[in-house]
Amino acid sequence: MSKVHVFDHPLIQHKLSILRDKDTCVKEFRELTSELAMLMCYEATRNLPMEEVLVETPVAVAKCLHIAGKKLAIVPILRAGLGMVDGMVALMPNVKVGHIGLYRDPKTLEPVKYYYKMPPDIQERDVIIVDPMLATGGSADAAAQFLKESGARNIKLMCIIAAPEGVARMQKSHPDVDIFIAALDDCLNDHGYIVPGLGDAGDRVFGTK
Ligand code: PRP
Ligand code: URA
Repeated sequence: MSKVHVFDHPLIQHKLSILRDKDTCVKEFRELTSELAMLMCYEATRNLPMEEVLVETPVAVAKCLHIAGKKLAIVPILRAGLGMVDGMVALMPNVKVGHIGLYRDPKTLEPVKYYYKMPPDIQERDVIIVDPMLATGGSADAAAQFLKESGARNIKLMCIIAAPEGVARMQKSHPDVDIFIAALDDCLNDHGYIVPGLGDAGDRVFGTK
């Protein structure tokens, strides 16, 4: 069974409370999404393997730690996941970025794929799928499945808000994929929106509503 990590850091919770507010404007929503992604990325990469290196300081040789040669990729689910990329790239400037384009069919709520582009060596990389919202879990489930079909083996999922339904679906379909979130909300409404959630993340990041 995959683990679910809920980040309770005060900075994350404070920013999330502003993100949820219906009166938060597009500019602030974008900035907060990016900042939250950066803070969550910091936590989600806590267990990256390290290796010892020797560094010559102006005074002496210091035994230091580097992140071991593990290759990482982040994979936003379009559109809303794009809002999380800049914050993560700011922390990991050389990270490779794959893209999965999915939208939810408004009737069935099932994901429809319209774009897929990964780094050519994706099978050698640890992957973090990013999307602000894990609702029914259909999009994240499909994204993890496509990545596995491309050979990715070590996959994590990082979302800002999750519904219990989405977590349960991911744990059933992908018990090997650990889930990192800032909040586990109450439920989904009849339209598949997370309650209380924050509304439509893609529309709020891109100002399309
Ligand atoms: C939203 C969100 C997730 C998906 C979550 O995207 O960004 O990708 O819904 O719902 P699920 O867990 O039920 O699949 P949406 O389909 O609205 O597309 P958009 O990002 O282009 O707005
Ligand atoms: N997608 C969103 O953007 N918000 C939700 O609450 C559910 C799915």
